[in-house]
Amino acid sequence: MALNGIVIAVDGPAAAGKGTLARRLAAALRLPYLDTGLLYRAVGRRVLDAGADPRDAGIAEAAARALVPADLDRADLRGPMADMAASAVAAIPAVRAALLDFQRDFGRAHGAVLDGRDIGTVVFPQAQAKLFVTASVAERSRRRFLELAGRGVAADPAQVEAEIRDRDAQDANRPVAPLRPAEDAILIDTTTLDADAAFAEALRVVRARLAQPDRAATAAAKPCR
Ligand code: DC
Repeated sequence: MALNGIVIAVDGPAAAGKGTLARRLAAALRLPYLDTGLLYRAVGRRVLDAGADPRDAGIAEAAARALVPADLDRADLRGPMADMAASAVAAIPAVRAALLDFQRDFGRAHGAVLDGRDIGTVVFPQAQAKLFVTASVAERSRRRFLELAGRGVAADPAQVEAEIRDRDAQDANRPVAPLRPAEDAILIDTTTLDADAAFAEALRVVRARLAQPDRAATAAAKPCR
């Protein structure tokens, strides 16, 4: 099933499984895939490398404007410090503005599956299908703990859960582009679903949504400002 020009938004909180799900959706639908969280992670990393505070709006905006594709390939974009730096720079309006065109150009070029926090609400409000992927805090913390362990990073489960809660609060309570489901998003709760079951459900609802006649026009072709 090739869907050139279709935009699919996959939003949700940290460790809900949206990245894996979005990547698999993109492969199944033969669409390009963009992990937009990586953009914020790369900005946060640049600010940390400069020895600056990720809440510093001027430095963070300059880092966002200086971003180059190789920044997204760095091996040090994940881990507690990188997570919180990404979330901090993501709360700065000028950083979000600096990254907006890149995301829209990516989606408009050939259609895409994009995952993030504000894809369905801000970046592509006219996306043909929007998913909001979530899971309980306990389950997301468990997954993040296992992911860290899989990478050989020793972590304290209580601290992992505290970090997930902090990041949820920071992402959901910021004034600009807060984490929230779009009104027309389909909710997928993966608390009791494994990756295969979550993917099967996502593919089913996306296909059903795309089959609706009013979804036929391509988001990539429409202006979104
Ligand atoms: O999806 P992620 O955990 O890799 O995202 C890292 C941080 O980036 C997240 O805490 C909030 C921010 N982010 C955002 O504000 N908007 C997006 N579209 C994607 C990520």
